[in-house]
Amino acid sequence: MQVELSDERGRIFCDPQAWTDMDAWHEQAAELRRTEPILRVEGVGLSPLYVLTRHADVFDVSRRSDVFFNTQHSVLMPDGQLEMLQGMGINPKTLIHMDGKEHNDYRHVTNDWFKPAAVRTRQDDIDAIADEYVQKLADLGGECDFAQDIAVPYTLRVIMSIFGVPQADERMMLELTQGIFGAADPEYLDLGAFSDPFEYLTSTIGRFDDYFAHLTADRRAHPTDDLATVIANGQVDGCPLERHASLWYYIIVATAGHDTTSYALSGGVNELIRRPEQVRALREDPSLADNAALESIRWSSPVRSFLRYAQADTEVGGHPIAEGERVLLCYPAANRDEAVFERADEFDVTRPDAGDLISFGVGVHYCLGSQFARREVRTFLPKLFDAVAEIEPAGDTEYTASTFVSGVKHLPVRYRMK
Ligand code: HEM
Repeated sequence: MQVELSDERGRIFCDPQAWTDMDAWHEQAAELRRTEPILRVEGVGLSPLYVLTRHADVFDVSRRSDVFFNTQHSVLMPDGQLEMLQGMGINPKTLIHMDGKEHNDYRHVTNDWFKPAAVRTRQDDIDAIADEYVQKLADLGGECDFAQDIAVPYTLRVIMSIFGVPQADERMMLELTQGIFGAADPEYLDLGAFSDPFEYLTSTIGRFDDYFAHLTADRRAHPTDDLATVIANGQVDGCPLERHASLWYYIIVATAGHDTTSYALSGGVNELIRRPEQVRALREDPSLADNAALESIRWSSPVRSFLRYAQADTEVGGHPIAEGERVLLCYPAANRDEAVFERADEFDVTRPDAGDLISFGVGVHYCLGSQFARREVRTFLPKLFDAVAEIEPAGDTEYTASTFVSGVKHLPVRYRMK
């Protein structure tokens, strides 16, 4: 869906294709951060917004959730797309579309389940799944597409094990999550019998609805220790979640928890296989694994942006923002801000400031799954580099065309196992 912009410098944020050349993208974003860190973007088909590219501004707005609301429209899309979704009765209502008490109540349903101590108990499962995918690498015989053959199925298996979805249903879950998230990338848009992407989306949501309605009924009758049990039996204001609310709860965790982590892992490996000295450092000091995971997540920054809406006249970074205006928090740009990260444009698993990443956001909407994501990446990296004697690029890296969640989608590699 094309938009005409009054200022072409804004195109990198709202054109899905701009996200397929990340070197060019970061070059332009860095120029904006230096010259116009609060950039007004508007045009035909896109309501006005201010793009924030500085770490301090993204941080500040995220923390001021009393003034800046997510609202039902926190994901950037052309106006026409929003109208079409609304016209088809698709009204997502998830944690990222809620504010205030409502958000707090719904977040409370799963909050404890995502706390570090609870996530730690899943480490054996994550280890076992990671081992399986290192074995798959060996079975593939020395050449593969690391992103599609390893990162996508590994992270899918972890998120589905968290849910308690049986392995037999994983393929279907992948089609469902890609049907919702990957819709801007022609490669992911396998419309099947549908001629229109919006009809396809409606059908995808319908299939999710059926699947999760069964899962909910099952977990109410037979509770286990999985996340589906927590959502199925969750309550807000003393009442069980109604069907629409629980459907969107499942959808946000399934979608937010899968592609993001897969892009972080592929993004990190894409850099590491070009930097033998860093792989050596990682092999010599396994305690670097968590820092390497954080650096992979900073570098890849798979969630590209979220919108916030000012509820009163205010200012950001010295710039006035009027009530009703909206700002775009651009995480990949903020993650390369030299004011926070030394040598921000260098990938370095030993960097002491990796923990200052803003890829998971900050404040009341801070990523619920951040502990899982870190664990998944930091579990896989050392196992990978312990298992291979050599690994190198075997072709061009390709990125997904999407303005919301995107990253390395093809990573051809050649390797020799030890
Ligand atoms: C590298 C991987 C990931 C990245 C970069 C990421 C990034 C983000 C970001 C930027 C937000 C919004 C934060 C804000 O508005 O301040 C978010 C929210 C969220 N994430 Fe993640 N995420 C990742 C992995 C996961 C995983 C593995 C799960 C689930 C298992 C998950 C579940 C969620 C949920 C449920 C929310 C909504 C929280 C709320 O609005 O209260 N994410 N994530």
